[in-house]
Amino acid sequence: MVTESRLSGTPMEKAPEPELGTELIPAERYTSEEYRQLEWDRMWTKVWNWAGRLQDIPNPGDYFTFELGSESILIVRETEDKIRAFYNVCPHRGNQIRNAGIGHAETFQCAYHFFEFDLQGHLVCVPDEYTFTQGVPTETGLVELPCDTWGGTVWINMNEDCESLEEFLGVIPEHLDPYHFEDMYMVQDRTIEWDTNWKASVDAFNEVYHVQGIHPQILESLDDINVQIDLYERHNRYLVPFGLVSPRYPNQDEITSSLKGMMLTAGIDPETFDGNMADVRPAMQKATREKAEAAGMDFSDLNDDQMTDDYHYYIFPNLTFNTHAGGFMMFRQRPHPTDPNKMFYDLQNFALIPAVVPHNGADADAGQRSSVEPPPRPKHETYKHGEVSLGLGLDQDSYNLPRVQRGMGSKAYKGLLINYRERRIRHMHKTLDDYIEGPDR
Ligand code: FES
Ligand SMILES: [Fe+2]
Repeated sequence: MVTESRLSGTPMEKAPEPELGTELIPAERYTSEEYRQLEWDRMWTKVWNWAGRLQDIPNPGDYFTFELGSESILIVRETEDKIRAFYNVCPHRGNQIRNAGIGHAETFQCAYHFFEFDLQGHLVCVPDEYTFTQGVPTETGLVELPCDTWGGTVWINMNEDCESLEEFLGVIPEHLDPYHFEDMYMVQDRTIEWDTNWKASVDAFNEVYHVQGIHPQILESLDDINVQIDLYERHNRYLVPFGLVSPRYPNQDEITSSLKGMMLTAGIDPETFDGNMADVRPAMQKATREKAEAAGMDFSDLNDDQMTDDYHYYIFPNLTFNTHAGGFMMFRQRPHPTDPNKMFYDLQNFALIPAVVPHNGADADAGQRSSVEPPPRPKHETYKHGEVSLGLGLDQDSYNLPRVQRGMGSKAYKGLLINYRERRIRHMHKTLDDYIEGPDR
């Protein structure tokens, strides 16, 4: 378990820049069946995957499934302090033990012929066992795989000889523990099937170069130019300043309507605000912290910029966190089991609930604990592309992505021409190369 809480604040220093080259990134990586299979064999089944939240399995016997490519994984709380992960498949004739979703079981009985397994995956009942004239091998049971927890989340790895989760995450816990993901509750849970390769979706969120093209409206409220990019061993981040206008915005002195909306959210009345453009962001930072403290939220591990900005983290291969004080929006891209031109886009929102779970010591006062109830777990909703609005910004991205995928499949298209501000994409491909072409894992 990744246990250490390293709460000296999210490190701000710029990471050294790795040498990543400048070549085109081949388009076939986004379109070919052969590359899709390579990714599955050499990467997806070797990395740690965010499977789901501990909050979904509070009691022994609670379980949820995690669907990735052709596999379904069953994550079970066996006891108060033991979580197990199994392939969701019955060793008899291959039936799935449970349908996708969240549930509770005292034992897992397969619905086909009633083989039954306990919460440790052991086979405890075989109807008419004497008819297996060869005997039922004693090791017959659910097949377990490595799992671990960090940030209130269960992670799994299909590589039985894998590195530890801690090693895989590298700098991430040190950077993100100050936000206290473990105290945040899911408030939205959607999956949308998109007609694009999973990497095209990852790419679209790992550069702000497209803001001027696809999202001109947000030039009114963030700086898309002065963005610090840090590339770590496998994961990366950018820090996007919010609460000011883009250097591309025509009137640098205008406190735009978007900024006024953000001020209201922070608790500042823009009509009576006594300051100019340069004062807006610091005033929002101060007001956000004061408002949160008054509501019983502890932001003491976060710096002032974190009150406004998007600390945008990417955990290879498929997790994006738009991290803000008080909550985060997570994107998780899951590959389609057979088609490199399709993927599943999971959109989950999490919010910090004031004083529900104090993180500053086990004996934090019980009166505060009960002051706010956690929100009910949202229902998981699934859609096809275009069936539901995800909000203006994400609608703009999702409109664009199938067109990108079509274009990448053109015989005229040679590969991705990546600029310096898009280098998180190149970094992702370098990491992918390390899995696909590097030593076996
Ligand atoms: S497939 Fe599960 S009991 Fe037969
Ligand atoms: Fe976008």
